[in-house]
Amino acid sequence: MTDHALIKRLPELSDRDFSIWQELLEERLGLQLPEQRRSFLKTSLAIRMRELGYDNYLDYYRYVRKGDAGLIEWNMLIDRVTVQETRFYRDPAAFTLARDFLHKRARENQRPLALWSVGCSTGEEAYSLAMLTLEELRRDGANPQRRFGVTGTDVSLQALEAARRGSYSSRRVENMDKRLVERYFDTDGLGYAVKFEVRDRVCFTRLNVLELSRSPMKDLDLIYCQNVLIYFRKWRRKEIVSELARRLAPGGLLILGLGEVVDWKLPELTRVPGERVLAYLKRK
Ligand SMILES: C[S@@+](CC[C@H](N)C(=O)[O-])C[C@H]1O[C@@H](n2cnc3c(N)ncnc32)[C@H](O)[C@@H]1O
Repeated sequence: MTDHALIKRLPELSDRDFSIWQELLEERLGLQLPEQRRSFLKTSLAIRMRELGYDNYLDYYRYVRKGDAGLIEWNMLIDRVTVQETRFYRDPAAFTLARDFLHKRARENQRPLALWSVGCSTGEEAYSLAMLTLEELRRDGANPQRRFGVTGTDVSLQALEAARRGSYSSRRVENMDKRLVERYFDTDGLGYAVKFEVRDRVCFTRLNVLELSRSPMKDLDLIYCQNVLIYFRKWRRKEIVSELARRLAPGGLLILGLGEVVDWKLPELTRVPGERVLAYLKRK
């Protein structure tokens, strides 16, 4: 049966069903699902319910909430209900700012640089940060073997699995600078695998941004968090960003997505001037 035929056969997602699913997604992930995303939720649930043999949303909801089996199912479902779109060097203005910052930071500071991609999805952002740092150290004539590390975190186990594989289709790299592709990927003409030199600098681990207070991440030189908070309520965004800011080392840089946080200030942070990037420096 095609997905279209399947969705037609499933009962409507009633207001009540929609609202219990909305609450679950917000409680566990922070995601706020507005009315416009109702059909997206219905389709995502419907496809998964069909795979498991459920024919109503409430029974499936109860299953997901219950016990270890429910937890395993929930982890599978996260992948279906979150937006994981990403690209290498997705936001050029933000990467330019990151590059200039790292250039200065590497000169000022001899300790290893620590970078963090929050909500890294399938890894492109974290690998881009690693390539950017390697390029910067090279350009600067600094020792490219100088130590630095990028941590990529996400709540989706499947996305993290793909990130750790570090293999991408040619479509995923087609808009990248060709020199970078040649330098940092192995290819058999069809797929592109991130080279060891880059992978060696990056690690991926699971972290729900609602549980940041439990994470050991600290003393970061650069925190990069884009296109994650847009799905959250404003008060939650501010809370998460404050928590991220706390994890910056003095002089560290926090880069967010444009417009993702407004009316937000912390005494220890200074907004980096510029309209194309939303970024803050932590006072030294
Ligand atoms: C649109 S992608 C953004 C990827 C990358 N940051 C970029 O800008 O290209 C959003 C990512 O946020 C992750 N995400 C959603 N809710 C999350 C949460 N509560 N904790 C951690 N990651 C979350 C999703 O799994 C997804 O991979």
